Amino acid sequence: MTSPNLLFDLNDGVAVITINRPDKLNALNDQVMAELGQAADRVTTDPEIKGVIITGAGPKAFVAGADIGDLAKQGPFDGKARAMRGQGVLRRFESCGKPVIAAVNGFALGGGCELAMACHIRIASENAKFGQPEVKLGISPGYGGTQRLPRLVGKGVAMQLILTAEMIDAAEAYRIGLVNKVVPADQLMAESEKMLRGILSMGPLAVRLSIEAIDHGLEMTLDEGLLLEANHFGLLAATQDTKEGLSAFLEKRQAKFTGK
Ligand code: COA
Repeated sequence: MTSPNLLFDLNDGVAVITINRPDKLNALNDQVMAELGQAADRVTTDPEIKGVIITGAGPKAFVAGADIGDLAKQGPFDGKARAMRGQGVLRRFESCGKPVIAAVNGFALGGGCELAMACHIRIASENAKFGQPEVKLGISPGYGGTQRLPRLVGKGVAMQLILTAEMIDAAEAYRIGLVNKVVPADQLMAESEKMLRGILSMGPLAVRLSIEAIDHGLEMTLDEGLLLEANHFGLLAATQDTKEGLSAFLEKRQAKFTGK
């Protein structure tokens, strides 16, 4: 699947989705969001896709935000509808059941930071910059920023970033826990793929249920979350993933002690 605004490359189970509007710093206009929604559906339903990397075209930006031209024209009702559509698209990636890594190759501002936060893991190039500058434009974050940023970095730091609209560099984003890893720009895609392929070498059902438990558990009481975890733990015992994973470990130990 290729479209003017989105590149979709599938190679041996890994889908690389590149937002491709470099002349506009990959800003998310309505068309890009519609294409991202289709991509999320494909990721969810295509069994050939095991994991995903989302990145931006060009050396400068991951995504420099929602398209400000679109936002300038909106009224209260279409503004709300746009936010809900965008939130839905990002949530579809977050809940697609497969690991999704954001390879942040430059500016990740507003909707760009929000898209990265909806991914399960964020790897940033050393030149990446993050921020939620919406209040500077007299708007507030609309694609989940007020909800996911405090979940990732805590309420106090999220308040500061959103209320001051300040832009932070990759090192600071790593320090506050917004990104998982910072790498030189020329190694970003290779490092992202390396981490993703490492995850894909684990038990796929175990990975899927772990994502689900973390994602849903954060919205539950501790007791509800623990029950969800126990249910997943029990459920996995009935799968080939668990049988293979545990017996491989036990056989290796037996071989060590018996010298076989
Ligand atoms: N929406 C629409 N267009 C955008 C955009 C956005 N969010 N961000 C950048 N662009 C466009 C610019 O208008 C410009 O287009 P033009 O060449 O047709 O004029 C092009 O991308 C390059 O951007 P430019 O501002 O010239 O690059 P820069 O290096 O001087 O500055 C930024 C980079 C990211 C600091 C600056 O583009 C910026 O502040 N963008 C808006 C960020 C933002 O507020 N995002 C949240 C939106 S809710």
